[in-house]
Amino acid sequence: MKYVEVGGVKVSAVGLGTWQFGSTEWGYGRDYADKEAAAIVDRALEVGITFFDTAEIYAFGRSERILGAALAGHRNEVFIATKLLPVMPIGPVVIHRAHASARRLGVEALDLYQIHQPNPVVPLSATMPAFARLMDEGTVRHAGVSNYSLARWKAAEEALGRPVLSNQVRFNLVDRRPERELLPWAQANDRIVIAYSPLAQGLLSGRYGPDRPPTGLVRTGSPAFVPENLRRVAPLVDALSLVAKAHDATPSQVALAWLIHRPNVVVIPGASSAAQVDANAAAADIELTEDEVASLAAAADAYEPVPLKAALPHVMRVRTRSLADRLTGRRRHQSSTAP
Ligand SMILES: NC(=O)c1ccc[n+]([C@@H]2O[C@H](COP(=O)([O-])OP(=O)(O)OC[C@H]3O[C@@H](n4cnc5c(N)ncnc54)[C@H](OP(=O)(O)O)[C@@H]3O)[C@@H](O)[C@H]2O)c1
Repeated sequence: MKYVEVGGVKVSAVGLGTWQFGSTEWGYGRDYADKEAAAIVDRALEVGITFFDTAEIYAFGRSERILGAALAGHRNEVFIATKLLPVMPIGPVVIHRAHASARRLGVEALDLYQIHQPNPVVPLSATMPAFARLMDEGTVRHAGVSNYSLARWKAAEEALGRPVLSNQVRFNLVDRRPERELLPWAQANDRIVIAYSPLAQGLLSGRYGPDRPPTGLVRTGSPAFVPENLRRVAPLVDALSLVAKAHDATPSQVALAWLIHRPNVVVIPGASSAAQVDANAAAADIELTEDEVASLAAAADAYEPVPLKAALPHVMRVRTRSLADRLTGRRRHQSSTAP
């Protein structure tokens, strides 16, 4: 495993994302939440992963609980990051919610407490003093943000009066926006860019195609996975496969290696099995050549997804069907449990 030492912390360059833990929208089923998730964390520890990411909103706290239980006994080996859902992110609310997250995780201190996304209405001056207080009392070790622009990241630092260690953003071969501003600034200022959806939710794995769609509403209901985009992404997956062949690796591993060959980047892939954790950790050992990096960037540049407007009818159909299934399922359940 490769480790990233930035801003006074040392974490594995490949971490583990846990949105999948307990979340019905990934469609992994009950066994995954009850058994596989713990096996995934165990394997992550075995292969040197020290960075674990969750959020209070993932499965409404269940992801934090599952992760906390699986990490019990390993507290001193790991760096735990969670996120505040910024609904009314004002002083007492923030403090109450940080304590609730720490309780669910079974820890006294959160290593990294991130604001999940900007709140356009509540100013940072109403939120960040609570972060300062949580840091002073020892409940939070480092502050972070997520889905923030560079300007807002800097504004958060100003409102906090100390460094905001990291910004967690979507960063992968089909979304390279963080390369423009966020990453250069992070590299120049001893900060971390945490790349979420580093495999574009499996789009880059080569596992899915127009005739092999994924399961679970996160992906079936996403514009990225409409059949036409699954067709259009094939040349990029081919480019990943070509590089992968030279390294005896998989497209997913190369997609991760492409991100972490840059300083100050940590990736947090989610996993549907312990075997994927093995593979993702091993990606840290792949050294890409500059030519390979350039060939992947060129293939990524050539990928043009269908405009959102064209993808929406398919997405709306899938989501409406899923909602209808859930409502009729609920009605069935209610009538079957009625006296
Ligand atoms: N801050 C935010 O707003 C935000 C947003 C999204 C996610 N996140 C965080 O980032 C984490 C990761 O993002 P994500 O889960 O959206 O996307 P991701 O990590 O790009 O994709 C995860 C999915 O890719 C597949 N996969 C993983 N490893 C693989 C491998 N070695 N080979 C083939 N397929 C593999 C698995 O799905 P299948 O096996 O089912 O194909 C897995 O569930 C989340 O768990 C969460 O912690 C944060």
